[in-house]
Formats: sequence, structure tokens, C-alpha cells
Amino acid sequence: PAVAAVLPAGGSGERMGVPTPKQFCPILERPLISYTLQALERVCWIKDIVVAVTGENMEAMKRIIQKYQHQRISLVEAGVTRHRSIFNGLKALAEDQPDSKLSKPEVVIIHDAVRPFVEEDVLLKVVTAAKEHGAAGAIRPLVSTVISPSADGCLDHSLERARHRASEMPQAFLFDVIYEAYQQCSDYDLEFGTECLQLALKYGHINAKLVEGSPDLWKVTYKRDLYAAESIIKERIS
Ligand code: C5P
Repeated sequence: PAVAAVLPAGGSGERMGVPTPKQFCPILERPLISYTLQALERVCWIKDIVVAVTGENMEAMKRIIQKYQHQRISLVEAGVTRHRSIFNGLKALAEDQPDSKLSKPEVVIIHDAVRPFVEEDVLLKVVTAAKEHGAAGAIRPLVSTVISPSADGCLDHSLERARHRASEMPQAFLFDVIYEAYQQCSDYDLEFGTECLQLALKYGHINAKLVEGSPDLWKVTYKRDLYAAESIIKERIS
């Protein structure tokens, strides 16, 4: 049964503080997103990869696909939030348009364009767990304690670090479950939500299984992360 992937890549990368969105920042002259695509393409059982990019970056993305000979890629317009970008990717997979080469998969992987070091074993783990439970995502222990500030900038409460986890990517879902969840959820969810597993849980009546990820799944976010990514790539090449 078919597995597809949706890759939201429509962010502005504000936190990196450079004009180019981080997914297009070069590492050893190759854009970051190209490494992520390569990591997914190595997995032969992923049939289609749907990438959501802004209209502004559509041509640049097409050039990257051509230059690095990426395979199995379809492009859709990104939305104004990450959830909306993902929803656009899911719509492209759901709609049986005659001119589309995409078909509805049994399972869909959602992965960030800015997590280039995803490996086949964790993809397999989330897909297998999603088939059994309906949804699954990779997690990591928390590096910092999570706190909730009050409106006046004081500590409201803190969470016990050992009992909480950081939600990473990839995540995987039975396609019908997550597509239905995105169709049913509110505008508020699409504007402010950041967790696909939460949507599946809230609207999909499934269990969201959590599986252990690896430290290399971290999201390239700040400028220093580009240097870290570069040194990992160099290590892997040598
Ligand atoms: O902003 P954040 O770091 O959570 O972004 C995670 C992923 O979601 C990135 O790959 C980014 O390009 C993508 N994104 C998107 N559409 C948006 C905002 C973020 O596809 N409107």
C-alpha cells in the first residue's frame, strides 16, 4: 500500500535572521531542502513527495529539482501557516484530478523541509506505528525545561522536564484520518496550532503513538544550525 510524504517548505525562516528562507540556505553550495529531499528519495517505498512552497519561491524550487535531479516531487502553494501548507499538500494527494500524477496514499508522512538528516529507520518506525494506531510521531527528551509565562511576563507555571518530550518530525498518519482532521478543524487550529498529532487526536479518534527519534532530527532554525548541519554533512561524505 502506498506511502507519500508532505514536506511543508513555505516558511520565512525569520529566526535565522538572513533574507533567504532557511530551507533555501546553501550548505556546501547546495540548498538545505535538497538534502532533505535526498534523504526521502533514498527511501524507495515513498511513492510521492509533495512540497509546499510560496509562489515567490516556486521557480527557485523548480530549478533546485532540475539541478539536483530530484525525483517523485510535486509542488503545491504553501499557506500562511505551517498547518495551511500541510493542508494544501494533503489536498493535492486527496484530489483525484485526471491531470495529476498523484494518487491518494494509505499512509502519509509529514516531515519538515529543514530537518535534513531523517533516516529510513525512523520513517519506517512512524509508518508502521501509524498503520497500527492511526498516527505516530518522533519524540526526543527535552533539552530545556518548558515554562508558561503569565501575561505580565512572570512565571505562571513550569512543566516537570522528565515527564514531557519535544515533538520532532517525521510524523505519519493514515491518510484518511489526517485529511479528515484538517477538513474538520477550526480556523483557530490552522492559524495557531503547531502539532499535527494533536489535530489527528482531536478530530480523528485515534491514538497517536510516540516513537523515539534521534538527535539528528533537530530542526535547522538558527544560523549556527547551518554550521552544525555542514559539519554533519562533511562527516558523512568523508
Ligand atoms: O516555522 P517552523 O520552524 O515551525 O517551520 C517548520 C516547517 O514548516 C519549515 O519547513 C517551514 O518551511 C514550514 N512552513 C510552511 N508554511 C508556513 C510556515 C512554515 O510550510 N507558512
